[in-house]
Amino acid sequence: MDIRGKIAVVTGGARGIGRGIAAALAEAGADVVIGDRLDDPGVASAATETIKAVEAAGRRAVAVRCDVTSAADCEALMQKAVSQLGGLHIVCANAGVQSTIPVVDLDLAEWERVLRVNATGTFLTCKAALPHLLAQKQGSIVNMASITGLRGAANMAHYSASKFAVVGFTESLAAEVAKSGVRVNCICPDGVRSDMTLGLLKHHTGIEDDAKADALWTQVSAERAPLGLSVEPSHIGEAVVYLCRADTLTGVALPVTAGAHLA
Ligand SMILES: NC(=O)c1ccc[n+]([C@@H]2O[C@H](COP(=O)([O-])OP(=O)(O)OC[C@H]3O[C@@H](n4cnc5c(N)ncnc54)[C@H](O)[C@@H]3O)[C@@H](O)[C@H]2O)c1
Repeated sequence: MDIRGKIAVVTGGARGIGRGIAAALAEAGADVVIGDRLDDPGVASAATETIKAVEAAGRRAVAVRCDVTSAADCEALMQKAVSQLGGLHIVCANAGVQSTIPVVDLDLAEWERVLRVNATGTFLTCKAALPHLLAQKQGSIVNMASITGLRGAANMAHYSASKFAVVGFTESLAAEVAKSGVRVNCICPDGVRSDMTLGLLKHHTGIEDDAKADALWTQVSAERAPLGLSVEPSHIGEAVVYLCRADTLTGVALPVTAGAHLA
């Protein structure tokens, strides 16, 4: 797919990995609709920064309030892409939440919250986009899974279960719509610098200072990854661009980890 002039929707696009994806798609020539929880003032102001990043690349950007656990919100998000920017070609179901809790302490409410945003949210995002993509017999969906969607991790059973669901859903949908010209892939990052991961790092280390947490993240992630690199949101954005362009790839779960999935 030639990304130039295409319209992309990125859920959870206000910050973190979603911002990296929005910026990379804009650099590649796409206009971007960000779907996020804009009723939270912090998220709304973060979305403004993503809009600036897209506009700096010379492309159009719109932010739309969307909770991916609502089918109506997801449908309205896709409609906005069509009505405000003129189409829908790329969909990145990136919105997600995470917590680290041992199963013995995990209550049903937290299990359901994480599954609902990560797994059900991916389903609702894709379902809302499909009628548009199928009608034009073209489209690229990239879902955000995780390395924990390929193998489990201690204290992350609920998160891992939600990401295994994303991988299985991605492969199944890819098989279902391949003959219609719509490709469906997902990305499986390990650790990526974002509000989510820096928040967890601060929580677990007791570090309060942002700069100190950021420096520790760089050090720890580079030590952990065989390639000696810290994976940044921009790297995930590059992988999304690659998957959108790669006309022979569908049903792929791509680890983007600087080799950490081999360790
Ligand atoms: N950062 C990592 O190390 C890492 C690793 C593997 C996978 N992931 C996945 O990448 C994705 C992005 O994570 P991130 O690290 O950028 O996190 P983040 O917390 O920095 O950003 C997540 C974004 O999703 C939005 N969001 C959360 N719930 C939502 C909802 N119900 N509706 C709409 N938007 C919602 C948030 O407002 C935020 O803008 C997630 O799916 C996450 O599970 C992250």
